Amino acid sequence: MIPTFTLSLLALSGTALALPTTPSADGCTRAVLKAHTETYLAAQAAGNPSLLLAIASPNLTYYEDGALRDPKSKLSTLTTPLPVSHNRSILDTTQCATFTELISAPATTNNATHRVIGTQLRFDPSTLALVKVESLVTQQGDWAFNATQTLRYAAAEDGQWGEIAVAARDSRAVIQAAADAYLDLFNNASVVVPWGTPCHRLEGGWYTGNGSATDSCNVGVPSGVSITHRRYVIDEVLGVVDALVAFATRPDSHEFRVEGGKIRFVVSLWRELIT
Ligand SMILES: *[C@@H]1O[C@H](CO)[C@@H](O)[C@H](O)[C@H]1NC(C)=O
Ligand SMILES: *[C@@H]1O[C@H](CO)[C@@H](O)[C@H](O)[C@H]1NC(C)=O
Ligand SMILES: *[C@@H]1O[C@H](CO)[C@@H](O)[C@H](O)[C@H]1NC(C)=O
Ligand SMILES: *[C@@H]1O[C@H](CO)[C@@H](O)[C@H](O)[C@H]1NC(C)=O
Ligand SMILES: *[C@@H]1O[C@H](CO)[C@@H](O)[C@H](O)[C@H]1NC(C)=O
Ligand SMILES: *[C@@H]1O[C@H](CO)[C@@H](O)[C@H](O)[C@H]1NC(C)=O
Repeated sequence: MIPTFTLSLLALSGTALALPTTPSADGCTRAVLKAHTETYLAAQAAGNPSLLLAIASPNLTYYEDGALRDPKSKLSTLTTPLPVSHNRSILDTTQCATFTELISAPATTNNATHRVIGTQLRFDPSTLALVKVESLVTQQGDWAFNATQTLRYAAAEDGQWGEIAVAARDSRAVIQAAADAYLDLFNNASVVVPWGTPCHRLEGGWYTGNGSATDSCNVGVPSGVSITHRRYVIDEVLGVVDALVAFATRPDSHEFRVEGGKIRFVVSLWRELIT
């Protein structure tokens, strides 16, 4: 006779073993989304789009810098191997979507090959197949681009973008409202932005603040710029939202870390050169 506890273990391992063949059994979980971001990173590191296409729907649409592209073509950044110097992802189980920032800036390589990429992935919530990729690929010549600097500052912020305690988490609406206030400020100086303190802005290779407790992100933004076509990915666990937007006519990504409703970190990527 098999003891009860062994039966429970068998039942548990049965469930675990069934997962890979029925990936949608638990729906769009953080574990599934995390695995998908790792697949994306592996594909980009190898310069092998097929690794990503293996999790994609036949109906996948793939955009770079706002332009529809064939992910397997020479125009696709996915076909160029890029060593991953730093990466950070957020996971949105509500929309079944992710955002990944990838910095490729090995010290030993020519900086013309350096890239800082922001990529949103969107999945079909029932099949978990990848249905849409939108990437912003910044490079030498783009505004304030200096991937060596970006890498240095991004790495220094590691450990400050961790999970927020359950009781302290903001709602999706609050996190998005903080991002919207900041983005609205570019076209309306009266908007009240929930500035947190300290706060840092990393824009290309440009960084605000000097490490003091009073560092502020309220150091001015350009005016008269309408920021439209906002596509959000929101992670309440990390308190982070990314918005891919049209910054006037240019493709742009703005990512915000929000704590207690207030903005603590801003990361922006902006394409100046469109190839
Ligand atoms: C692809 O799109 C077509 C047309 O919208 C749809 O009929 C089909 O079910 C889609 N296939 C998948 C795998 O989503
Ligand atoms: C992405 O970053 C994590 C640490 O946050 C690291 O464990 C992982 O290896 C990185 N992935 C790649 C492809 O470099
Ligand atoms: C890239 O390297 C060239 C040649 O060393 C240098 O002139 C240029 O300023 C560098 N660009 C950046 C963004 O570091
Ligand atoms: C880019 O950043 C590196 C590291 O801080 C610095 O040495 C280099 O001068 C910067 N390049 C430019 C063009 O500002
Ligand atoms: C500008 O922002 C203020 C404060 O939120 C708001 O009352 C006003 O209606 C906004 N103006 C426009 C033109 O949207
Ligand atoms: C940091 O910057 C603030 C504001 O610009 C300035 O008042 C402060 O003295 C600086 N602190 C350090 C340590 O440089």
